[in-house]
Formats: sequence, structure tokens, C-alpha cells
Amino acid sequence: MSVRVAVIGCGAIARAHVPAIRGAENVELVGLFDQDLSRAREMASQHGNPRVYGSWREVLDDPQVDCVDLLLPHNAHHQFAVEAAAAGKHIMVEKPIATSLAECDDMIAAAERNRVALMTCHTVLFEPGAQKVEEIIRSGQIGDVYMAQTIGLEGPSTVSVRPWLANSRGGGVLMAQAIHQIYFLQHLLGPVAKVSSVIGKRKIVPMTTDDTCLALLEFQSGAVAEITSTFGQTVGPYSRGTYFYGSEGYVSYQPHNTALRPNRPLEVVSEKTYGDRELHEVSYEQESQFKRMWQAFGAAMAAGQPPPVTGQDGRAAIEVVLAAYRSADEGRTIALPLT
Ligand SMILES: NC(=O)c1ccc[n+]([C@@H]2O[C@H](COP(=O)([O-])OP(=O)(O)OC[C@H]3O[C@@H](n4cnc5c(N)ncnc54)[C@H](O)[C@@H]3O)[C@@H](O)[C@H]2O)c1
Repeated sequence: MSVRVAVIGCGAIARAHVPAIRGAENVELVGLFDQDLSRAREMASQHGNPRVYGSWREVLDDPQVDCVDLLLPHNAHHQFAVEAAAAGKHIMVEKPIATSLAECDDMIAAAERNRVALMTCHTVLFEPGAQKVEEIIRSGQIGDVYMAQTIGLEGPSTVSVRPWLANSRGGGVLMAQAIHQIYFLQHLLGPVAKVSSVIGKRKIVPMTTDDTCLALLEFQSGAVAEITSTFGQTVGPYSRGTYFYGSEGYVSYQPHNTALRPNRPLEVVSEKTYGDRELHEVSYEQESQFKRMWQAFGAAMAAGQPPPVTGQDGRAAIEVVLAAYRSADEGRTIALPLT
């Protein structure tokens, strides 16, 4: 039987989740809720007229709902997740899973206690290009990865359309954007041992939370990575880049440099694979990562397996963000686990 999903929060990212749920196997969209009812109504009218709930309590009380999809401002994730777990609903929650380790632990415990699944939307892991990068690295095509770089350049409009990112607890570029790079790096390079960071003070975007951050990660493996992230890119396209350097080659993935080069392929150097030291382009299929994520969640639920990204995975990423805040505040390198 399909997992019946109610989407909670009908803002920007719901526009990606709703069609993804409707298009994936083993999951079914049954309803929508937003504190702004007009948003939920409008979205319902565009997507097959699922039920529109008048309150969160109505969602919790509806036996037709097996799972809630929490697409809310970051500081609301914890409360909604804990209440959903208590009502016996599985939980899909957008990144970042929560804004503190205490909140993460509470959510993970609530899910375990109530025997419901808790999945964090680490959507980059479901991008076809990112999965191709993973395949290249895991198959040893570039040897041992010893260094990585990531950039995420976004403009102020990311924040202006979501004012809660600017000033509220849990907003900021680290929580909202760099976290994608953090969990992608953790997924491929393993646990992080140390974090150091600087947060830009020359604000481009009028916000009290961080708009620009540079972070350095040292992994338990000894590999190192740097993260450059900003909401202050006032001109030029939103661009994202991830570069992995190995003992026998490298792979770069720049999925958002699409204004000049749509569907930009990966760039790979791998003597093992190609028998030379030249740059090779590797293309990948184009499919919504949100659809692939829901597909993977549905498949796991149908097979009685844990979700493909867990609450612990979400917590691990948050720990790095919190360590980066601490490093910037205290001007020193922070060792994990955080105490
Ligand atoms: N995975 C990705 O690529 C990606 C991209 C963008 C956003 N996100 C994440 O998705 C989540 C939502 O972001 P967004 O961009 O859709 O934000 P948004 O501001 O566009 O939408 C949030 C919605 O939640 C509603 N809402 C707020 N508080 C509520 C409450 N207490 N009860 C009910 N509804 C409430 C708002 O009315 C709004 O419609 C965040 O966690 C964000 O980081 C993920």
C-alpha cells in the first residue's frame, strides 16, 4: 500500500515536492496544509485537488495520513516533527533537520519511540549528477580523495522571498545552503573531525544571520575540504560547484552553471578509466532529485527498510554547521563531536 503523504508548508520548495510525490511510486499525496490557507488552496487546485486542512491538528487527527512532509521555516521543524511522531506519522523533513543538536536528538528519539520513519531531505544526494560523482568516486576512478572544494553562490533574492532566513534562529547561509555541501561531503568522505570557519562581516544582504561563510573541514580519514557559500552574489547566475581531487584524478560537478552551459556535464580526469590524463566530459540524465528522493523513500517503506537518509544523517550535518558557528565566534578550530 502507498504511503499517504500530507505536505505541510506550501511555499517555494513545495512546488518541487508536490509533483515529485505525485510522480513517485509507493507514495501518494493526500493533503496540504499551510498557515496561509490561500497558499494550500491554490496549490491544491493545481495538483489534483487533494484535501486542504484547516489546521495542523486536523492533519494529526486524520487516519488517512501516514506521513507528513515538513517544508517549513527551520525553527518550526522540531515541534512539527515531534508532534507528528506522537501522532504516529512518518516524517520527511526538509534540510536542515533542525537548528540544534538537542532538537535533533529529541526528533530522533520521538521517531524511535513511536516507531515511525524520520527522513531528512538531503536532496543533492538524489541528483543524477551527484549520484554519478558518487559512482565515479566509489568505483575508485579518481583514487583516494584527499581534498574537495565546494562553492555555492546565491543572490539576495533567496533571502528576500524568505524573510525568516534573515533574522530568525536557524536562518543564514550555513543552515540553508552550505548544509547541502556539508552532507554531500560527509556522504562521500565520511565523518568530520574538525571544523574551522570565518563568517563574512561585510554584509551584502541585510540580515542578522550569516550571509557569507568560508569553512574548512578535516575528515577523520585525513581528507580536507573547503566550503565557500554566500547569499551575496548580487550579479551573475546562481552557481554551485563541487570538486573532488583524488590520488589518480579528479571530478568536478557544477550543476547550476546552466545559464551559459545547460546540462553541464561532469568533468573527469581518470587515467584508470580513460587511459590518458585529459579532461573527459561525463553526462548524466536529467530528472528531478525530489522525484528520485520520494521514489527512494517509497521503495524503502515498501520494503520495510529504514529511509535512505536518516535523522542521524541530518544531525551529523547540523553538528558541522554548529561547529562552524562556534569556530567563527571563537576564532579557533573546533573538534567534533561537539560538547
Ligand atoms: N532541498 C532544497 O533544495 C531546498 C530548497 C529550498 C528550500 N528548502 C527547505 O525547505 C524548507 C521550506 O523552505 P521554502 O523555501 O519552501 O520556504 P517558504 O518560506 O517559501 O515556505 C514556507 C511555508 O511554510 C508556511 N509556514 C510557516 N510557518 C508555518 C506554520 N507554523 N504552520 C504552517 N505553515 C507554516 C509558510 O506560510 C510558507 O508557505 C526549509 O527547510 C528550506 O531550507 C530546501
